[in-house]
Amino acid sequence: MAVQISPSILSADFARLADEAAAVAAVADWLHVDVMDNHFVPNLTLGLPVVQALLKHATLPLDCHLMIEEPDRWAPEYAAAGARAGLAVNPGTAVEPYQDLLPEIDMLLLMTVEPGFGGQPFLDMVLPKLRRARALVGGRDAAVWLQVDGGVSEETIERWAQAGADVFVAGSAVYGSEDPARAVQALRAQAERATAHAAWVRQER
Ligand code: DX5
Ligand code: ZN
Repeated sequence: MAVQISPSILSADFARLADEAAAVAAVADWLHVDVMDNHFVPNLTLGLPVVQALLKHATLPLDCHLMIEEPDRWAPEYAAAGARAGLAVNPGTAVEPYQDLLPEIDMLLLMTVEPGFGGQPFLDMVLPKLRRARALVGGRDAAVWLQVDGGVSEETIERWAQAGADVFVAGSAVYGSEDPARAVQALRAQAERATAHAAWVRQER
């Protein structure tokens, strides 16, 4: 599937969320929304009412990353807005035990930092796991997106693309930039270039 860029509003100005969403609307594919409850992760961000408000203003699909306890309690209400399903795994969690769930999901999110905060350096220990995950889901025509989240920047995105990611979350690299739209375009160009040369894509042709 084509490269998808999903700017994370965790690094945006929370008092101006509609404007911040609009700043990348023409160039990004999705908008990544980090829902943190201060229990599952040691940080508190926003919840369902803000997501519902944002849905009225944002033109991009919302890529809701639930870092919450009791997902069974809350996820159905997020899904009611018309959702696809993703499974997120932390850096130290193996993917293989969840292999049988892959046909049930649309996206596998590999956390490339410990979840909770933006602006952390990525953990390169996740690169081999990403390669294995790509082999599990299949190549370019796979039915499951592979998303990386954490420490994705112009310096690191090529490595993730080469290892098998096709969805890239970027918080500080986009909203920490003076020109968020330009940052999205630069990330996409680099990811597409790296993908074109990636073994996991070439093998299929
Ligand atoms: C971290 C969040 C990320 C965060 C990434 O727990 O899940 O989505 O926004 O931020 P950067 O891109 O700055 O690492
Ligand atoms: Zn996230």
